[in-house]
Amino acid sequence: MAKIIAGVGTSHTPAIGAAVDNGRTHEPYWVPLFKGYEPSKKWMAETAPDVAIVVYNDHANAFSFELIPTFAIGVADEYQVADEGFGRRPLPPVPGHADLAWHLAESLILDEFDITIVNAMEVDHGLTVPMSLMFAEPAEWPCPVVPLAVNVVQYPPPTGKRCFDLGKAIRRAVDTYPGAERVLVVGTGGMSHQLQGERVGLINAEWDQRFLDMLVGDPDAAAAISHVEYLREAGSEGIELVMWLVMRGALDADVREVYRATHVPTSNTHNGLLVLDNSGSGPFT
Ligand SMILES: [Fe+2]
Repeated sequence: MAKIIAGVGTSHTPAIGAAVDNGRTHEPYWVPLFKGYEPSKKWMAETAPDVAIVVYNDHANAFSFELIPTFAIGVADEYQVADEGFGRRPLPPVPGHADLAWHLAESLILDEFDITIVNAMEVDHGLTVPMSLMFAEPAEWPCPVVPLAVNVVQYPPPTGKRCFDLGKAIRRAVDTYPGAERVLVVGTGGMSHQLQGERVGLINAEWDQRFLDMLVGDPDAAAAISHVEYLREAGSEGIELVMWLVMRGALDADVREVYRATHVPTSNTHNGLLVLDNSGSGPFT
């Protein structure tokens, strides 16, 4: 049977992709951020997952504001990189894992977790920036990806608890997949940031660290955080952190924190990175 081996949470700020693509990672502004990812890149190369389920949000690229699924899973063999207005990032297409994706879709829906099935879509910085941060700049991505999109761009987004429960349902699905794949689950977005309104530029590093502590050691408490608290404490775009709860729900009830790195500022965000290893304690009951 397939097995979820680990989880990664990481921000997906678009400026990071631009820094990579334009050869600016060695500039003083960017050095601390990218230095923070060196240990996780090494860990990733050593861990070498067979497939990654990447939980991200589309930013009105694959899905316009005419149609916004709350949860959507890509079941294609390949995903092209979206042009977000500055040309496509110079990245290889993202290979899919259609067989696992269809199994996930079937298992989730029969598990009464309805999810939109997407046969074709492009992927934007929500997915490609984490890929760059995890795998650097390979000619080909080292493992296929199952993209799982969550609406956090138009109210109402799903609750943190709903995302946590989706992670648990993903765990049940992977545990019944008749392959031998070692599966990585990635939650992206956040941490605190606000891109609009009177509090534009808001960053709340202390709250973010408490969120990470809860996510590791008391995920039920993290899942109970309300939309209003995200808005008040982490800014209007801090709600992206609910996607990290999907990742956490798919892991063991107890996890080992392998690595954490945070950095302020990265564009207008508090950048976060968290690597969690399954402890063998088994899934949430
Ligand atoms: Fe985002």
